[in-house]
Amino acid sequence: MRLNAERTPISHSHRYGPGSVLPMSEHLPVLAPELVSLLAPEPGQTAVDCTFGAGGHARAIAELLGPTGRLIGIDRDPAAESRFAKFAVEAPCRTLFISADFAAGLTALRGEGIRPEMIYMDLGMSSMQVDAWERGFSYSYDAPLDMRMDTRQKFDAANLLNEWPESRIVQVLRRFGEERYAGGIAREIVRRRPLSTTSELVAAIKAGMPAAARFGAGHPAKRSFQAIRIAVNGELDSLEQALPLAWESLPVGGRLGVISFHSLEDRPVKQFLAAKARGCVCPPELPVCVCGHEPEAELLTRRAVSPGPAEIESNPRSRSAHLRVAVKIADEMARAGEVG
Ligand SMILES: C[S@@+](CC[C@H](N)C(=O)[O-])C[C@H]1O[C@@H](n2cnc3c(N)ncnc32)[C@H](O)[C@@H]1O
Repeated sequence: MRLNAERTPISHSHRYGPGSVLPMSEHLPVLAPELVSLLAPEPGQTAVDCTFGAGGHARAIAELLGPTGRLIGIDRDPAAESRFAKFAVEAPCRTLFISADFAAGLTALRGEGIRPEMIYMDLGMSSMQVDAWERGFSYSYDAPLDMRMDTRQKFDAANLLNEWPESRIVQVLRRFGEERYAGGIAREIVRRRPLSTTSELVAAIKAGMPAAARFGAGHPAKRSFQAIRIAVNGELDSLEQALPLAWESLPVGGRLGVISFHSLEDRPVKQFLAAKARGCVCPPELPVCVCGHEPEAELLTRRAVSPGPAEIESNPRSRSAHLRVAVKIADEMARAGEVG
């Protein structure tokens, strides 16, 4: 993994932020004003954007960090690096890019002793990734079976579909796609091997489900494509690894924000933050607390924040977004160190 050299801002008058016009971007940032207001960046602080994408959120945050602040972008898609380079030229703060999975990026930052005041993630894929037909993320285009976010990774959707045993494909479709017809679809995939294109995959998915199910709400391949993409990119494992790393990196007062797009992503985020916000963990039958456990987090979003009708209308992709943010109110690691 590579940590690019840090860049200092050039002085310029152009600013992005409320009332200003965002540069033309292929990807519209979701819940951007809500994220900025809950993270509350201040001049001189350091922010880590774990999913830089097209930098929509990063631009809004960088605006408030000012020339003494620093925006660190992470993205595992190598295509994000050139977009970051363009952002860095105009950014009103210092910048640094890490081209890696966010769990690896956060580990590297910890190794450098960096303690950012805010860390945020906007999970899933960017519009650029979905729309790059050749990357095979979309069931709407015929393309090679790829679906890798990091194109340096060896394992792709063709490997999964052509090499994994049927039982493992069933598990993937069930677990990551909540697909009712996982068994029939996996059987069809295995029967038709080798598969090499997304249209062959769509045909196998359709053939693996009852005729009536092919005409329900949404595209019949939607759930299976999501499942295969999550498995190819190890998305939930990355998230599970990154949440504690992010939390441990924050100082007291630091904030963690996560935007997720389906319940498989939102559930671990919700559970992680709820556990950090929990005080006493004694069994309920004990009359008095003996654990002495203190909450480490205050939830700034008791319920997840969702986009309003205007945002959904202008950006339908935002429809399923959920934003959760928490502030660190105590440092369990430091406390454990003091006791030990
Ligand atoms: C929804 S887009 C982010 C869009 C961005 N917030 C913006 O405003 O343009 C998600 C991005 O995160 C990246 N990504 C997803 N999972 C990742 C992971 N585990 N590690 C690093 N980058 C990841 C994807 O490559 C993609 O570019």
